[in-house]
Amino acid sequence: MLATFHDATAADYPEIARLFPELATGDPVPTREGWLQDFAPTTFLARSGGAVVGYAFYRVLSAVGYVANVVVDPGQRGRGFGKGIMGELARRFRAAGAVEWCLNVKPDNTAAIALYRSVGMRHAHDSVVLRLSWEQVERLPVQRGTAAREIRPNEDERVRVAFALLDGKLAELRLHAERRTLGLFDGDEPRGVAGLNLAFAPGVMGAFPFRVARIELSRNLFDAMRACGGPEHVRVQAVVEDDAPLVDYLLAVGAGVHLKVEHHRGLVPAGS
Ligand SMILES: CC(C)(COP(=O)(O)OP(=O)(O)OC[C@H]1O[C@@H](n2cnc3c(N)ncnc32)[C@H](O)[C@@H]1OP(=O)(O)O)[C@@H](O)C(=O)NCCC(=O)NCCS
Repeated sequence: MLATFHDATAADYPEIARLFPELATGDPVPTREGWLQDFAPTTFLARSGGAVVGYAFYRVLSAVGYVANVVVDPGQRGRGFGKGIMGELARRFRAAGAVEWCLNVKPDNTAAIALYRSVGMRHAHDSVVLRLSWEQVERLPVQRGTAAREIRPNEDERVRVAFALLDGKLAELRLHAERRTLGLFDGDEPRGVAGLNLAFAPGVMGAFPFRVARIELSRNLFDAMRACGGPEHVRVQAVVEDDAPLVDYLLAVGAGVHLKVEHHRGLVPAGS
C-alpha cells in the first residue's frame, strides 16, 4: 500500500509516544521536550488513509545514513509500509549525500531483518548493551599511564580514526548539553572514547560509543565517566560494538546484558 510522508511536527508527539514502545528496546519513551529538541528534526511520519501508519527517525553523519527507529503500526504490518519507509529514508539519505546506510537490530527481530535484507543491508557485526553498577566497575583493575579529558574539537579527527567512529559523531554529541565527549589519552595518543549521556535514563548514565584501545583500560574510562556524573547516577550503560573480548571482560565482573543487537549495513540503493 502507498503511504505519504511528512516531517514531524510538535503535534505528532502523541503518535510517536504510542509507537516508540514497539521498538521494545527498554529505552524510555523520550519526553515531549526531549523529542522535540533531539528527534523531531530528523523524524518523518507515514500516513495512509488519513491515519499514521508508521514513522522513522534517522541521522546523517557525513556519508553514512543511520536509521535509528523504524516502526509500523501493529495493525498495519505486512502491507509494504515498512519497505515504503525504507525507500523514503534512502531518498533522504541520497539527497544528503550519504552513500552508505546502517542500523542496529535485535537478533530475534525476524520481521525487521527481513525488511533490511530486502533493501540490500547485510549483518556486519554484533553489539552488546551492558549495564554495570559502580561496585561492579570497581572490580576492574585501574591502569596507569592514561589521563581522561573532554575531547577538543581539534582532536576529533585523530580520535575518529583511532576508533573508527562515524565522521561527525563527536561534533554531534557536543550539540547536547547533557552529553560529553570523553577521551582517554596516553600523552596525545587516544586510548579510549565515550560518548556520554548524563540524562540517558533515571539513575543511568549511558555511553555510546564506548571504545578502548585495550580492554584493560575500560576501568579508567568508566572512572572518567563517573567523575562527570552525580549521586543520582547509580549505574552505567555501555554499548560495546564489535568487541567480544571486552564484553567477556565486563561480564566477568557481573555486568548485566541489557540488550544484544546486530549491526546491519549496506549501500543506499539508487533512486528509481
Ligand atoms: C519491522 C517492521 C517495521 C516491518 O514493517 P512492515 O510494514 O510489516 O514490513 P513490510 O510489509 O514493508 O515488509 C517488508 C519486507 O519484510 C518482510 N517481512 C515483514 N514482516 C515479516 C515477518 N514477520 N516475517 C518475515 N518477513 C517479514 C516482507 O516479506 C517484505 O519482504 P519482501 O519485500 O522481500 O517481500 C514492523 O514489523 C515493525 O514496526 N516492527 C516493530 C518495530 C521494530 O521492530 N522496528 C525495527 C527496529 S530495528
